[in-house]
Amino acid sequence: MKEKSLPPGNLGLPIIGETISFLNDSDFASKRHQKYGSVFKTRIFGRPTIFVSGADAVRFVLTHENKYFASTWPKSTRTLLGPASLSVNTGEFHTSRRKIMFQAFQPRALASYIPTIERITDDYLAKWETMETFQWYPELRNYTFDIASSLFVGIENGSQTRLGELFEDWCAGLFSLPLPFPWTAFGKALRCRDGLLEEIETIIKQRQQQDNFGNDALGILLTATDEKGNKLSLEELKDQILLLLFAGHETLTSALASFCLFTVQYPQVSTEIKKEIERLQIGTSVTLEELKQMEYLEQVLKEVLRFVPPVGGGFREAVVDCELEGYLIPKGWIVQYQIRRTHRDTTVYNEPQQFDPSRFNNNRAEDKQKTFAYVPFGGGLRECLGKEFARLEMRIFASRLVKDYQWNLIPNQDLSMTATPTPHPRDGLKVNFHRLK
Ligand code: HEM
Repeated sequence: MKEKSLPPGNLGLPIIGETISFLNDSDFASKRHQKYGSVFKTRIFGRPTIFVSGADAVRFVLTHENKYFASTWPKSTRTLLGPASLSVNTGEFHTSRRKIMFQAFQPRALASYIPTIERITDDYLAKWETMETFQWYPELRNYTFDIASSLFVGIENGSQTRLGELFEDWCAGLFSLPLPFPWTAFGKALRCRDGLLEEIETIIKQRQQQDNFGNDALGILLTATDEKGNKLSLEELKDQILLLLFAGHETLTSALASFCLFTVQYPQVSTEIKKEIERLQIGTSVTLEELKQMEYLEQVLKEVLRFVPPVGGGFREAVVDCELEGYLIPKGWIVQYQIRRTHRDTTVYNEPQQFDPSRFNNNRAEDKQKTFAYVPFGGGLRECLGKEFARLEMRIFASRLVKDYQWNLIPNQDLSMTATPTPHPRDGLKVNFHRLK
C-alpha cells in the first residue's frame, strides 16, 4: 500500500512554530486554507497541528471521538480549566460526568431560568437607556456574566464581585504560551485561577450549610451522583462550576455583540423581527413555546452564529494514525476542526460572505444540504452542553432589545473583528442607545 504523506503546510520554528501568528491574526486559518487547501499542517502551542475544514472533514473528526480522536486543549487552556473540568475529561468518565451536568440544561430547568434572564435583561436595558452612549461589548460581558452567576451559583451582580474581576485576567491567559512567570498572561491567569477557586469554594461551602441546595446548576451538582452512587468531590465541583461560569458567558457575549452590530448595519432585519413580535403578540413575559414560534428571529440568530461563530474551532488529539482526504494524520498530532471556515463553504452556502438570515428559511435551508456544514456548537459526543441555554438567552435578549429600543453606531470607530477572548469589534462597539418613542 502506498504510504500516505503529511498534509501541506509549514511547521515554523521549533516548539513555538506559528503560535504567535495564530494568536495575533484572526485570519490565520483562512490564509493557510487558501494557500494549501482544506487540510494543512502547522505547529502551535508546541505541538504539530493539522487544521481541517469543510463539512466532510468536520464530520470525520466529530464522529470518531474516542476511536481516532480524543478531546484536548492547548496546555494553557487545560491547566487553567483544571484537571476535573468536563472539557478536559475523556472516554467513559466524560460521558458519565456529562450526564450529570446536563441535568442543569434540561427543558424544565431552562423554563425555570426564563424569569431571571428577563429580569436581568430589563435591568440592563434600563441602565443602558440612562447611559445613552457607551461601549457595548464590556457591558454585554457584565450582562452575560450576571446571568450565569445568578443562574449557576445564585450570586447576584456577579460581574461587580471579585469573581467577575478575576475572570477577566483568567480569560486573557486561556490561549497563551504556558510560561508560568509572574509577568506573563499565563502566570497572571494561574494566580487568578487560585483566586477563582477560593471564591467558588466559599460559595459551595455556604450552600452546603443550607437545608435545601436549590435548583440552580450548583444545587443540581451538589445532589447529583454518578452510576456508582458517588457524589462529586469538592475539588471536582470547583472545576465544573468554573467551566460553567466561563463557557456560560464568554461565547454568548460575542454572539450578542454580533447581533447588535448586524441589526444596526441591516435595519431591515430589526424591522422584520419587530413585525414578528407584533404578529405573535409577544408580551413582557415569554414562554419557551412563544420563543419557538419566532421563526424569523431564529433565522437571524442562526445567521449571526454562522457569520461570526464565537468558537472558531475545536481541538482534538489523534489517538491512532488515521487518514483524512488522502493525508496521514499521525498518532499524537493535534487536529483543529475549523468552524469559521466551514461556515464560509461556497459549495454549501450561497454567497457566504453576505449576512443573509433568509438562507435558513424553510425553502432555502442551506445548512441542511450537508450534515456538519453548520456547527457553531460543535457536534457528536462533545456538542456544546449549554446550546439550548445559549439559544434561550439570545432569543430573550434579542426580542426585548429590538422591541423597545434603537441604537446607532458612533462614527469613526474600528468595527474590524478581534478574536480574543471571543470575536468582537476592536473598539468594543460604541453606540448611542435610546428607547423607541
Ligand atoms: C462545548 C460553542 C454557549 C457550555 C462547546 C463547543 C462549542 C461551543 C463549539 C465544542 C468544543 C469542542 O468540540 O471541543 C458555544 C457557543 C455558545 C456556547 C457558540 C454561545 C453562543 C455555552 C453555554 C454553556 C456552554 C451558555 C454553559 C452554560 C459548554 C460546555 C462544553 C461546551 C460545558 C464542553 C462539552 C463537552 O466537552 O462535553 N461549546 N457554546 N456553552 N460548551 Fe458551549
